[in-house]
Amino acid sequence: MADMNYQRYKAHPTVDLPDRKWPGNRITKAPIWCSVDLRDGNQALEVPMTLEEKVEFFKYLCSVGFKEIEIGFPAASETDYNFCRYLIDNDLIPSDVAIQVLTQSRSHIIDKTMKAVKGAPAVIIHLYNATSTLHRDVVFDFSCEECIKLAVDGAKMIIDRIREDKSGTKFMLEYSPEAFSDTELDFAVQICDSVLDVWQPTPENKVIINLPETVEYQTANVYADQIEYFTRHTKWRESIIVSLHTHNDRGTAVATSEFGLMAGADRVEGTLFGNGERTGNVDIITLAINMMMLGINPGLDFSDMNKTIDIYEELTGMKVEPRHPWAGKLVFTAFSGSHQDAINKGRKKMEERGESIWAVPYLPIDPKDVGREYEPIIRINSQSGRGGIAYVMETYFGVQLPKRFQRDFLPVVKAATEAGGTENELTPQQIFDLFDDKFINVLEPYGLKNFSEQQDSDQVSTVEALITYGGEEVTIKGQGNGLLDAFVSAFSKYTGIDFSISNYSEHAMKSGSDSAAITYIEITNKANRNTYIGAGVSSSVTKSSVRAVVCAFNRMISVL
Ligand code: KIV
Ligand code: ZN
Repeated sequence: MADMNYQRYKAHPTVDLPDRKWPGNRITKAPIWCSVDLRDGNQALEVPMTLEEKVEFFKYLCSVGFKEIEIGFPAASETDYNFCRYLIDNDLIPSDVAIQVLTQSRSHIIDKTMKAVKGAPAVIIHLYNATSTLHRDVVFDFSCEECIKLAVDGAKMIIDRIREDKSGTKFMLEYSPEAFSDTELDFAVQICDSVLDVWQPTPENKVIINLPETVEYQTANVYADQIEYFTRHTKWRESIIVSLHTHNDRGTAVATSEFGLMAGADRVEGTLFGNGERTGNVDIITLAINMMMLGINPGLDFSDMNKTIDIYEELTGMKVEPRHPWAGKLVFTAFSGSHQDAINKGRKKMEERGESIWAVPYLPIDPKDVGREYEPIIRINSQSGRGGIAYVMETYFGVQLPKRFQRDFLPVVKAATEAGGTENELTPQQIFDLFDDKFINVLEPYGLKNFSEQQDSDQVSTVEALITYGGEEVTIKGQGNGLLDAFVSAFSKYTGIDFSISNYSEHAMKSGSDSAAITYIEITNKANRNTYIGAGVSSSVTKSSVRAVVCAFNRMISVL
């Protein structure tokens, strides 16, 4: 094995913050959410959305509860400009929603941005420039002072334009030191404070300071340290909204944002399903459902996840992975028998105890809370156990298999899943058909045409039954202390095989629109003491029980 080229990389600096507080904090409320789907998300699509698609996406974002939506970079792209104008000119922005637009610190770009948003009810002007050591060195080749000057000049131009604007728009300001997490922390504080010195926010009129993890360089704890450090060192803490903007290069954007919130941030920028540059932005859906599962109101409504997926996939052309948290098509499945059994028990216990707080093993949330079902996606394969099979039979067909039936049915299911030497999954209907075929109403070689019972006294019944065997019909007759006892006596005499009923149970089951009865019988062959099972189904309970006896008998003689 060759070593990978790890020597080409180096550790990133950590933060000297020995009295850090954030690890002991908890998230107790939802942040202000800002969707950047229509900017960071859209710019990273192989085929960007059309104007119509963006309008539909925007409406959907509003409908799930976003109050701040970054709609583009209007000065950089004509389509973004036209989209911005379209929303404003067609009155499509709800009165409680602010659109956010990105701009660089250049006068003609700021002018065009202001023109794009003219007349909107509420606008967040989002100024950014890259501040990291790497950017300053290899991209811009300028000093810290020049970098600050660029930001401050932009901040001045924007505030001047806003002061001139008489359209009645409610403006809010945002500044992002792009690549914040790769910027020397004291410099990040210095440049943000310089911008804030220009904008002069107040606790009543706050400015958003967005601290991007533009490329996820840090482990989540280091980013949290950076956020806590920033909030403790900026002189404007009371007058700013600290915003997170994490990307997912190392695959931990959700953790990074959660730790950032614990470190004191107030706001999160992200996208649905984590769309965005490279590995994407943080997935707001995951963050929101993570909050819900901790009993926190996320303030966004993803209770119809299938609809969210459909809209997202249709408009972006992206696919939601089958194991995507809370959304993928496999996330509420259980393949292993022991998991299925535990889920089954957990759901039953909750019902019996009338519990309102969700507590089911292997299902951290009730799939119904995101508009999903556990039932349709349970899979039966060779790994499944008795519990999973029993669950499918009960949930889909109302068949409550007794333990003995579960035990005997399991190898039948396993053989079917392994048929042909390949691993198969069985649908609920296939499982039911297997059970039906092997255990219910097996009326060969002995069949039952009809029967009648006469109650001679409280204790004694006489049964007469018309049996078929090898194309012949035979009437048999017997007595006993009840219908089944009398039938078993008649049948034993007729077949010459002495047996008795050792277990009996029955219940109503749902089959299609009719309600039928199913009876489970276990019989004991008196000669060898072996036991055999069979089930009978009929719209009449008595018929189902006599059929079950004949079925168990036929199954017995098939192995004798
Ligand atoms: O990732 C980033 O740094 C950005 C900024 C423009 C906010 O998208
Ligand atoms: Zn970004």
